[in-house]
Amino acid sequence: MQERIAEIQRSLGEALQAAPSKEELLSLKQKLVGKKGELPALLGELKSLADEERKALGGKLQSLRKEIEQSIAHALSELERAAMDEKLQKSWDDPSRRGSLFARGLTDAGLHPITEILQELEEIFSRMGFEILDGPHIEDNHHNFEALNIPEDHPARDLQDTFWFEDNTHLLRTHTSCIQIRGMKDRQPPVRFIGPGQVFRCERTDQWHDFSFFQLEGLFIDRNVSVANLLYFAQTLFEEIFQSQVEIRTRPSYFPFVEPGLEIDMRRDGGKWVEMLGCGMIHPKVMEQIGVDPTEYSGFAFGLGVDRLLLMRHAIEDIRHLRSGDLRFVRQFSRYRSGGIPC
Ligand code: DAH
Repeated sequence: MQERIAEIQRSLGEALQAAPSKEELLSLKQKLVGKKGELPALLGELKSLADEERKALGGKLQSLRKEIEQSIAHALSELERAAMDEKLQKSWDDPSRRGSLFARGLTDAGLHPITEILQELEEIFSRMGFEILDGPHIEDNHHNFEALNIPEDHPARDLQDTFWFEDNTHLLRTHTSCIQIRGMKDRQPPVRFIGPGQVFRCERTDQWHDFSFFQLEGLFIDRNVSVANLLYFAQTLFEEIFQSQVEIRTRPSYFPFVEPGLEIDMRRDGGKWVEMLGCGMIHPKVMEQIGVDPTEYSGFAFGLGVDRLLLMRHAIEDIRHLRSGDLRFVRQFSRYRSGGIPC
């Protein structure tokens, strides 16, 4: 019997080495530990053995069963993980990266650094359980302003110079905060989601300002959510993005859709404090707009400037490089490329 146990162990090892499919793993499991499998057969034979031997071999058989079950379960979950990785990878598939679409002579292609950092941010937030939502670039007065407690004639409107359409109702969204309103239309707390996307401001450009840039909105509503939760998420986010320890601090600020409103600054290695994001606890008026009872739930929201984050991470001196279309600029990000495509 000792020999047959060793034989089962050997064949299990070999079978697992051969990168079996899900079906093969399930039939291996059936063959070894299924009702009519090899192990139950051996267990049946124990009866005919002397006491001493039966005890020793019985223990061995039980631990062999455990080993078989665990290693097959592990192999199955690895397969599942690989399938999920592949699926996620595919959902990022960019057709322009496929060789067949490439003109002859182009040897490689990469993602724009903004796309790269957006993908990283989405991955970090997905891991923290956030959904990823989208919203239209062309918004209306209600979603961009009114529902966010920014009524007409409110001075806060001046802070966000707006590209209006001729109907004076539609506009190019000035921030991603509208996604808070849209996302909550078909959701109930507890919720957590992010809304990354492009925004537009009718502004003069300079080194730090462009007429269009990317923001990432975040919203988290649950029972007993406090500023402490907000600070935890902010710190985790920065440490992931910069892959180093960071310190954060808050400053009071004003945004009509949060109360209190805060600005979070960050620094690395005792260096200079840099302003990173606007945030705060969701204003009761906004809670009302999104149909959430503020006496039962609380939540935080934040808006992160994605371009700024990128400028900081790579010490880029002018935001306008990002949309310049200058290949000499984007090629510097080869470290972040997903690999060249042979023609
Ligand atoms: N929407 C603000 C802006 O564009 C950023 C912002 C601040 C978003 C505070 C938020 C927030 O969600 O809570 O300047």
